[in-house]
Amino acid sequence: MKKELLYQGKAKHVYLTNEPNELILSYKDQATAFNGKKKEIVTGKGRFNNLISAKIFDYLTKENVPNHFIKSLNDTEQLVEQTSIIPLEVVVRNLATGSIVKRLGFKEKTVFQPALVELYYKNDALDDPIINDQHAFLLTHTTKEEIELIKGYALKINQLLRPYFEQIDVQLVDFKLEFGRNQNGEIILADEISPDTCRLWDLETEMSLDKDVFRQGTGDLLPVYQEILNRLGEIK
Ligand code: C5P
Repeated sequence: MKKELLYQGKAKHVYLTNEPNELILSYKDQATAFNGKKKEIVTGKGRFNNLISAKIFDYLTKENVPNHFIKSLNDTEQLVEQTSIIPLEVVVRNLATGSIVKRLGFKEKTVFQPALVELYYKNDALDDPIINDQHAFLLTHTTKEEIELIKGYALKINQLLRPYFEQIDVQLVDFKLEFGRNQNGEIILADEISPDTCRLWDLETEMSLDKDVFRQGTGDLLPVYQEILNRLGEIK
């Protein structure tokens, strides 16, 4: 049963439950970009994020990736294992686009083989700065070995998600993951994986099927999220 609000994020509310180690993630109908500077109510968006993320976490569970997802509860809510979130945004890039092009001057669509893993310090006041491994373990109460573990999980998840999306004619360009520490002290995948947190390009047309349509103001968010959910629905 849903109890009091524990935390209010930009895209989700997190509620306590009767169970001490279980939380409810409730997805909001809100789109934000540029650290909340652009913000809009998009009715129906929460449902898409919830259902898409649930589907992806189900797949990762089947592939033995330790994660927080327990089950979907309804269209906009899911039950997850409680973790203490490690304040890192772990970004995996297969192709150069977005901030890496702006920051470091990589040519758009440069292929990263092997995939590039970057760490950002999850801190709104500092605008989520990019950091190195040493900063990461100094800032986040993790060890060197745990940072290596997290980066290893990120690459493994990339290896699993690339073919998963390819079968629905989607190219996984880049994505962001978050990890948390559970009651046993284990580091597991947490948060969400959705078109809010991934760049997903149609394999043929390279059209964005993700939050870039909102960030760049090039189209409506709902039809492209619906398209991703429809295509995921075709996977057996
Ligand atoms: O903006 P940037 O190119 O660094 O984004 C890389 C990937 O990480 C994109 O898929 C983006 O959706 C995701 N991201 C995110 N949350 C952030 C920053 C980036 O989900 N705060």
